[in-house]
Amino acid sequence: MSYVLEVKNVKKKIGNKLIVKGLNMTIGEGEVYGFIGPNGAGKTTTIRMLVGLIRPSEGEILIGGHNVQSDRSNALSQVGAIVENPELYGDMSGRKNLLHYARLARVPKKEIDTRINEMAKLVELDKRLDDKVRTYSLGMRQRLGIAQALIGNPSLLILDEPTNGLDPNGIRDFRALIKKISSSGISVFISSHLLSEIEMICDRVAILKEGAVVVEKQVSDLLVAEEQYDFKVDDIKRAIEALTGTAYVTTAIDARTVRIDVTEENIPAIVEMFVQNGVKVYGIQVEKETLEDKFLNIVENLQEVN
Ligand SMILES: Nc1ncnc2c1ncn2[C@@H]1O[C@H](COP(=O)(O)OP(=O)(O)OP(=O)(O)O)[C@@H](O)[C@H]1O
Ligand SMILES: [Mg+2]
Repeated sequence: MSYVLEVKNVKKKIGNKLIVKGLNMTIGEGEVYGFIGPNGAGKTTTIRMLVGLIRPSEGEILIGGHNVQSDRSNALSQVGAIVENPELYGDMSGRKNLLHYARLARVPKKEIDTRINEMAKLVELDKRLDDKVRTYSLGMRQRLGIAQALIGNPSLLILDEPTNGLDPNGIRDFRALIKKISSSGISVFISSHLLSEIEMICDRVAILKEGAVVVEKQVSDLLVAEEQYDFKVDDIKRAIEALTGTAYVTTAIDARTVRIDVTEENIPAIVEMFVQNGVKVYGIQVEKETLEDKFLNIVENLQEVN
């Protein structure tokens, strides 16, 4: 399989401080990759290396198989990025901004107009495209930034904390937009300090702490890794007694709910044990640990989840 992005043992030392401590990542075609970490973890530093703004102290970065250091123009021609904040000209219209970036990205002259209109439509700015950017809301600026990053038809879109400052509606629109972009085959690398804002759009997430990836997982694996079920019963004391001496871990949630750490296959056995002990079951509900909980656990305990 060929990767759109390959990061091999990348380190960055600034002064005598090792800020990025040997990163290894790969991103496939159309994959949405979340790069999550608290403030100061090294997200922006990593992204600045990915887009060739700074050089790694060690290791290599390949984009579409081209080395960002030794084959810079071929590598970077495949990337569109927003690092920290989109660079926009407030006194120009959205269209003029896109025109400027289309030229920088060397979009062939006769394709520029079509390309700008397509991108404006994609980010739903077509109706405001001739207004000055300073009249745009934060969400609109963010979307124009994305249109600008995509104007040169990259295979990889890199966004540094794109959800910062967006309200819940803005975040929802952003998620829909990323889905559209990735389903057209473009790979997306998104950093964030808030896992909850991007977990739903990522296929895979890496959790960065102090310059090192402590966990990298498929989002779907993280979500099912630790299932729990809440059993609503008539007599919680008796329910817990019924499972005493078994391997099941039980937690009383309230007067009528007991939470049990099990996977779905174990439910019939538990129901049977309840029935045998005269416990009535009124409902069973899955309680999945959210990715955010997991993230906080990981960052706090620095435990590797495998
Ligand atoms: N040019 C620099 N000189 C010295 N230290 C730096 C430099 N750039 C970054 N750092 C340090 O490297 C660490 C990582 O910074 P970075 O900006 O990459 O973090 P981040 O994950 O993007 O954080 P945030 O969520 O706040 O944007 C920080 O401790 C920062 O102070
Ligand atoms: Mg940053």
